[in-house]
Amino acid sequence: MHLSRSGCPVLCALLATFCLTLVPQAYGAQETATDTKAAAKPAATRLPPARQFYLGRKIAQTMHYKGAQWLIRDQREREERCSLVLEQLGVRTGMTVCDMGCGNGFYSLKLARLVGPNGRVFAVDIQPQMLFMLRARAEEDGIENITPLLASVHDPRLPRASTDLILLVDVYHELSHPERVLGALRRALKPKGLVVLVEYRDEDPKVPIRPLHKMSKRQIIRELDANGFKLARQFDGLPWQHMMFFARDPQWAPRDTP
Ligand SMILES: C[S@@+](CC[C@H](N)C(=O)[O-])C[C@H]1O[C@@H](n2cnc3c(N)ncnc32)[C@H](O)[C@@H]1O
Repeated sequence: MHLSRSGCPVLCALLATFCLTLVPQAYGAQETATDTKAAAKPAATRLPPARQFYLGRKIAQTMHYKGAQWLIRDQREREERCSLVLEQLGVRTGMTVCDMGCGNGFYSLKLARLVGPNGRVFAVDIQPQMLFMLRARAEEDGIENITPLLASVHDPRLPRASTDLILLVDVYHELSHPERVLGALRRALKPKGLVVLVEYRDEDPKVPIRPLHKMSKRQIIRELDANGFKLARQFDGLPWQHMMFFARDPQWAPRDTP
C-alpha cells in the first residue's frame, strides 16, 4: 500500500476499526484477565494483560500523540545526532525496513528516502493520530514508499520474514507487552535481519529525560536475550542514547519469564 493523495483504503479501514475498538488500549487503559468486560468478550478479541514491570524494570506510559511536535523539534538533530543514527544503520536502496513506534514519522520519512523507490518502510504505531500526522507529512514531501500499519499493543502486524531492519527509537521502554512484541519482531525479520534499539542512557544522569524513559545497556541486553536476540553490535557515539543492534539467536527456545 502506498501513501498517496488518492487515499489508502486499507489504512482507513484499519484506522476506523481501531478508533471504534482499540483506542483506550493506546492510552494505558489496561485490561486484565479479571476485567469483567474483557472476560465477556470473545476469546479472539481479548487482550493479554499489560505488564507493569518486566524483568525488574517499570514500564513507561505511552507518549501521547498530543506531544508529537516534540519529536520534530528543531533541536532534535543537535541533541540526538539523528543523522548519525541513520548513518550507523547502513540502510541501502531496495531494503525493507520498519520504523516501529514511528510516531509522526520523524525517522520513517528519512528512511523512505534512504531505501528509495524500490524499497519500503513499514511505519508502525498504536495511535492512529500519529499515523495521520505521518501520512500528512509524507504526502507533503511526495513520499510514496511508506506503508503505515496500525498495531495493537501486543502485535505490530508486520508480515512474516519481510524486513531487513527494524528500528525502535525511544519506543522499547514503552511496550506494555514486551515479550509478545519481541516475538512478533523476531518473526518479521528476514534471516539476517536486525532489530535496532535506540534508548536514552539510564547510566548517565546528565541525559535530561525522566528516569522511566531511560534504559541501561544491561537491562536492554537482559530483556532482548530473554526473547531470542543476541547483541550483534553497538554504537556508543550518540550524545544521549544507546544504539544497540540485535540479531536473532538461532539457539534460542522460548521459556517462561516472571
Ligand atoms: C516517544 S515516541 C517515539 C516516536 C518515534 N520513534 C521517534 O523517535 O520520533 C514512542 C512511540 O511508540 C509508540 N508505541 C508505543 N507502544 C507501541 C507498540 N506496542 N507498538 C507500536 N508502537 C508503539 C507510541 O504510540 C509512540 O508514538
